Amino acid sequence: GYAMPRACIPLVFYGSMIHSVSVTEVEIIEKGLLVVGPDGKIVLLQRGISQDEVPNVLAQHNITRPSLPIRHLKRGEFICPGFFDTHNHAPQWAQRGTGRGEVIMDWLNHTTFPHEAKFEDPEYAKKTYASCVDGFIKQGITTASYYGSLHGEATKILADICLEKGQRAFVGKCNMNRNAPDYYRDFTAKESLDVTEDFIAHCRNIDPGKTLVTPILTPRFAVACDGDVLGGLGEIAKANPDLPIQTHFDEAEQEMEITRELFPEFDSEADLYEHYGLLNERSILAHCIYVGEYEIQRIKDLDCGVAHCPVSNTTGGAFGAAPIREFLRRDIKVGLGTDSGGGYSSSIIDAMRQAFVVSNAKQLLTDGKDSSLSLYECFYLATLGGARVCNLDAKVGNFEVGKEFDALVINTVDKEYSGIITMIEDVDLLKVIFEKFLMSGDDRNIAEVYVKGRSIKM
Ligand code: GUN
Ligand code: FE
Repeated sequence: GYAMPRACIPLVFYGSMIHSVSVTEVEIIEKGLLVVGPDGKIVLLQRGISQDEVPNVLAQHNITRPSLPIRHLKRGEFICPGFFDTHNHAPQWAQRGTGRGEVIMDWLNHTTFPHEAKFEDPEYAKKTYASCVDGFIKQGITTASYYGSLHGEATKILADICLEKGQRAFVGKCNMNRNAPDYYRDFTAKESLDVTEDFIAHCRNIDPGKTLVTPILTPRFAVACDGDVLGGLGEIAKANPDLPIQTHFDEAEQEMEITRELFPEFDSEADLYEHYGLLNERSILAHCIYVGEYEIQRIKDLDCGVAHCPVSNTTGGAFGAAPIREFLRRDIKVGLGTDSGGGYSSSIIDAMRQAFVVSNAKQLLTDGKDSSLSLYECFYLATLGGARVCNLDAKVGNFEVGKEFDALVINTVDKEYSGIITMIEDVDLLKVIFEKFLMSGDDRNIAEVYVKGRSIKM
């Protein structure tokens, strides 16, 4: 049995609420009344209710349990949807910040693979993954798409920990059977696929309804997978239409050049992954920096999602500004990834800000053709956009009635959340508080974290 995180439902919030309703539109709700039912779903959201009216409104909706506690959000506090990290590497948690200045293949061989190899030891995996998942929850990640290491055992431990701590997660055993050192690779395609199937079975066993944990197919990238592995994973994807898929895509010039040498029969990574049955509406493609017109159109037509990783794209083993404006223009699904540890930060709030910064650079680089992103668009990428990338937008991503309540309480005023970013005198305009949080807040302002109506921050 798992120790279930603290439950406190039904939940009633009264006060300020902020969420995205579309790419460009953020709804800022004052005097909102939001009720979460015992199944963790939002049953009521009303705007502009005075405090006196609250009992009546609740009564009208038959939400009248005797001593229903109401969580009053005070001035300087608001709730917003939980953040999505659509791309990160759990075993790289311990290596964050190291290996700068190395190009991608050197960074993998010198910095990353030696770290990931340590997860052969289940004790090390337990310790490090517990710290990793806690760390992500602390900074507001309610849904994460994790690459594990190549080890079946360690990756099962990661899935167990996500479930136990109550985080919504896609978890993948990383497939890699070539162009990696002998001490850290799958030895045969068969072994790589067998471990994957066994891992999928484990996830189905611990969370049969996929209420929180979903296994995800995770070919690291074509450089590290031969055709047998890619084709085998494509077969698994076909046989299991509920499984999401993730890989790195057009991330670095060096990586793309090696891919072309290994697979000369394909003109693009889009054609390559599509050939092996790995590109469809369930695919989460990390980076997508060097995509041309043809690939952008394939991504659109196949309805793949893009995990934009602006932190690692500007401080990791490659440098580039992905064409996010163009993706959004075509209504391609885009979310944010920390790509932790490939960059200076594993904070999704930093990723949001870096998406803003990089989009300004992109505007310059394209002579204004790709206009920069607004802060509201960056917030969308971290919330509803991420939900779309994970195909979870019918379930989570904002505060629509009927969705599950994955949310954060943001506190911008109290000392105990020692990142004070507004003074009580400043906090009359909710829009200003929100902007200050986006631009200068950090995880210290994240006071509470809810997944499916359960409070999960320790
Ligand atoms: N390409 C293949 N593996 C990795 C990885 O771990 N991080 C990044 N950023 N790119 C990769
Ligand atoms: Fe990555």
